[in-house]
Amino acid sequence: MKNRQVVLKSHPNGIPQPTDFELTDAETPTPGPGQMVVRNLYFSLEAAIRGWLDGKANYFEPIPLGGAIRGPSVARVVESNLDGYEAGEIIFGLHHWEDYSLSDANTILLSKLQPREGIPLSYYSGGLGGSGQTAYVGLHEIGKIQSGDTVLISAAAGATGSMACQIARLRGCTVIGIVGSEDKARLITEELGAHGAINYKTEDDLVAAIQKACPNGVDVYYDNVGGRTLDAALACMNTFGRVIGCGMISDYNNQDNPTPIYNMWKLVEKELTMRGFLLYTYMDQVPAAMDQLHDWVAAGDIRILENVTEGIANAGYAYSEMMKGATIGKNLVKVDTDED
Ligand SMILES: NC(=O)c1ccc[n+]([C@@H]2O[C@H](COP(=O)([O-])OP(=O)(O)OC[C@H]3O[C@@H](n4cnc5c(N)ncnc54)[C@H](OP(=O)(O)O)[C@@H]3O)[C@@H](O)[C@H]2O)c1
Repeated sequence: MKNRQVVLKSHPNGIPQPTDFELTDAETPTPGPGQMVVRNLYFSLEAAIRGWLDGKANYFEPIPLGGAIRGPSVARVVESNLDGYEAGEIIFGLHHWEDYSLSDANTILLSKLQPREGIPLSYYSGGLGGSGQTAYVGLHEIGKIQSGDTVLISAAAGATGSMACQIARLRGCTVIGIVGSEDKARLITEELGAHGAINYKTEDDLVAAIQKACPNGVDVYYDNVGGRTLDAALACMNTFGRVIGCGMISDYNNQDNPTPIYNMWKLVEKELTMRGFLLYTYMDQVPAAMDQLHDWVAAGDIRILENVTEGIANAGYAYSEMMKGATIGKNLVKVDTDED
């Protein structure tokens, strides 16, 4: 069987370009004891992958030149020697951008999916996958959101941000999103129920813009971007506010020169809690999060936004578009196979 694979051709200089990736043919793996071979169906494009493309360790080993791109996927088990997993089952896990991957009990994020009737399988790569789970865990466990809080969310039209906006709204919070275009601002206020939006690309004074949109101050800041936006948000926090450190995408394309943060004194002055987290540390909370998210989606209370790119050959292009901010919602690649 042919196993197409997307490998790293060159270390990106800034925003990854489609030419930094290359489609090659590899051997189809055979499962050893305790392993299974899975057929990848959807790649979940993650901002975190950018940190693995520079040749430096970044909470995982760097991806070497010529190495397959590591990333989570929804996949179907083809052949299994792993207890508890059988051919035909649908799983999620950190695999590689290729037709067939090896998976075992040590695969990060490995979980068996039980797709519900009427729910598209692709949702399990995004809103009902890592993005929705990250938003849910971040808001509840790290941000300790309460009804009535003012919650400020950056990259609010993205995969994680669009879910965070809707979850916080459903929990009775006032939600203000920060986004990079007028179209995204319209989308989050008119379709996702955010109470306000700020376009950071057209605001010279971001602190003033946040203060105007949040006249009672910010209780919880869900930080997806870091940099200039984090700095401005710190200046607008209420006493005992919480800053959720989910990601810092604004610095991912330029990690050797991170943006300075000037407003750290606010941590003391406002007695803030600022806490980072990685979803995989909180996997015990995922089943409850999934139950709630499924219910909201089934009831029509949450809208899942997706940007689907067809074909494994286009994975590099799709990733480049995502990392330049050109997309809305969850970015995923539908692998061109006859399966669902
Ligand atoms: N902690 C965890 O376990 C965990 C898990 C998943 C994701 N994350 C983090 O969550 C964040 C969002 O990830 P995602 O997968 O949901 O991606 P995403 O938000 O769907 O996609 C990227 C979006 O980020 C924004 N962006 C890109 N470059 C930017 C820049 N230079 N400055 C400001 N914003 C920029 C763009 O939106 P605009 O047009 O609005 O700028 C872009 O559309 C990332 O920081 C990621 O690392 C963390």
